[in-house]
Amino acid sequence: MGYNVAVVGATGNVGREMLDILAERSFPADEVVALASRRSQGVEVSFGDHTLKVKALDHFDFSGVDLCLMSAGGAVSKEWSPKIAAAGAVVIDNSSAWRYDSDIPLIVPEVNADAITGFRKRGIIANPNCSTAQLVVALKPLHDRATIKRVVVDTYQSVSGAGKAAMDELFAQSKAVFTLDEITPKKFTKRIAFNLIPHIDVFMEDGSTREEWKMVVETKKILDPKIKLIATCVRVPVFISHSEAVNIEFERPITAEEARDILRNAPGCLVIDAREPGGYVTPYEATGEDATYISRIREDATVENGLSMWVVSDNLRKGAALNAIQIAEVLINRKLITAKQRAA
Ligand SMILES: NC(=O)c1ccc[n+]([C@@H]2O[C@H](COP(=O)([O-])OP(=O)(O)OC[C@H]3O[C@@H](n4cnc5c(N)ncnc54)[C@H](OP(=O)(O)O)[C@@H]3O)[C@@H](O)[C@H]2O)c1
Repeated sequence: MGYNVAVVGATGNVGREMLDILAERSFPADEVVALASRRSQGVEVSFGDHTLKVKALDHFDFSGVDLCLMSAGGAVSKEWSPKIAAAGAVVIDNSSAWRYDSDIPLIVPEVNADAITGFRKRGIIANPNCSTAQLVVALKPLHDRATIKRVVVDTYQSVSGAGKAAMDELFAQSKAVFTLDEITPKKFTKRIAFNLIPHIDVFMEDGSTREEWKMVVETKKILDPKIKLIATCVRVPVFISHSEAVNIEFERPITAEEARDILRNAPGCLVIDAREPGGYVTPYEATGEDATYISRIREDATVENGLSMWVVSDNLRKGAALNAIQIAEVLINRKLITAKQRAA
């Protein structure tokens, strides 16, 4: 018997990607239900070769659902995830609503799959921020070898990380530049077309942004609380896939060649590092792919045991939908959930 799966936020960037990935991976689902706000009731979304009619979240009865993949923002998750869990479904949430709660596991399967058993307390599992997910996939195998002390990361984050309205804004502004039409930023604080913005999410008291804070706190929770990290998160005029320039200081020596070998064999990682023009991965090439791509691996002689590298991944896939579905697969493969008995 397969599982009954609900996708909440099915009309959004992440929700649509979830439906694609469920179909691509032949996820063992008996039924997949697409849910969104009342505005989208009756809208059709693709699911493999089929289409699904979107239902409204606030009229839906979750009692027959085994797994709920949530990607409808923090406020919706805060209100709905506990109710859905109480109805007996395991919730895997993409928002930041539950990530920092000590009772809720925050999971990247390649890094800390064993922490998943903590889901029993509240019935909710959190998916990390998109920038954190790809970062920890690349850091984990290196941490196991040489123990990371400190990370300095600069991100180049695509507009899809801010939802579908943000993608529309980049498209409309780019067109307006050529047609000489007026540009009025809505979703972003400044013009994003042919520009970049060193500000994602709200400012914190210490001058960092909440996006930067998330990378610090989430890396500690998923990988190791002893790792020190500082991030500068930048929105760039790229539609999909986030890139990161990562500088790492280790406790023990590690050469670029060793790092390349370790990453070549690491789960979820793909090394493309030819040290010649074009011998690296760009966000355009990572889009639609599952891997975390690592390029430009080199030693940093300005610190003891230092390495720098370039990490690129599709933020809608590994940064959100794919990671959530991999979490669901861990639950199933480890027999941590069973499909509810349903009347024939
Ligand atoms: N994009 C990324 O790279 C990324 C990565 C990690 C995590 N996330 C998180 O994933 C979540 C979704 O992101 P997204 O990029 O997919 O956003 P999006 O494109 O703006 O889509 C939002 C989705 O939420 C639904 N929704 C909004 N209000 C709702 C309500 N009251 N009841 C039910 N559904 C409602 C929308 O439905 P309607 O179409 O009906 O409005 C839509 O399906 C956010 O929490 C985001 O922070 C995103």
